[in-house]
Amino acid sequence: MKLIKKILVAQTAVMALWAMSAQAATDEAIAERLKPVGEVCIQGQECAAAGAGAAVAAGGAARSGADVYGKFCTACHSTGLLNSPKTGDSAAWNAKAEKSGGLDGLLKNAISGINAMPPKGTCGDCSDDELKAAIQHMSGL
Ligand code: HEC
Repeated sequence: MKLIKKILVAQTAVMALWAMSAQAATDEAIAERLKPVGEVCIQGQECAAAGAGAAVAAGGAARSGADVYGKFCTACHSTGLLNSPKTGDSAAWNAKAEKSGGLDGLLKNAISGINAMPPKGTCGDCSDDELKAAIQHMSGL
């Protein structure tokens, strides 16, 4: 009975992996089909032809503070979850900045993580500049 369970678990894992790779393949196919549209939108220029909401091609310009914040930091900082300094609460942010050594100190702690604050605020591929912009977006510093 136990063995059957193990086999089932293994099979489920394999199927999950398969589904994920199938999804990736699909995404690639979609990206390929969309390419002619994407090429109209040249990096560093307005994406007027592709319309609003068009994604900038991978390897493109740095994400804005608002973008990074909206994707990674808002989960905790919008509500002050886990006692994080809340977005727009300049008193809370000023206190943190004073304790940590200004904006640079905040950035350093955001990169390494501090207490319940995860390293890079869960944005593993964020550059230092992108993190800094996100901090500025939240804190107004
Ligand atoms: C899982 C929740 C969570 C997420 C997601 C998160 N934070 Fe935090 N953050 C915290 C908590 C909790 C603290 C307070 C840590 C403490 O001082 O004890 C904090 C504190 C900070 C601080 C203050 C550091 C200091 O020196 O006191 C900065 C800066 C910061 N976060 C930046 C970010 C950025 C930028 C992002 C998104 C890229 C982010 N955080 C995402 C939970 C989070």
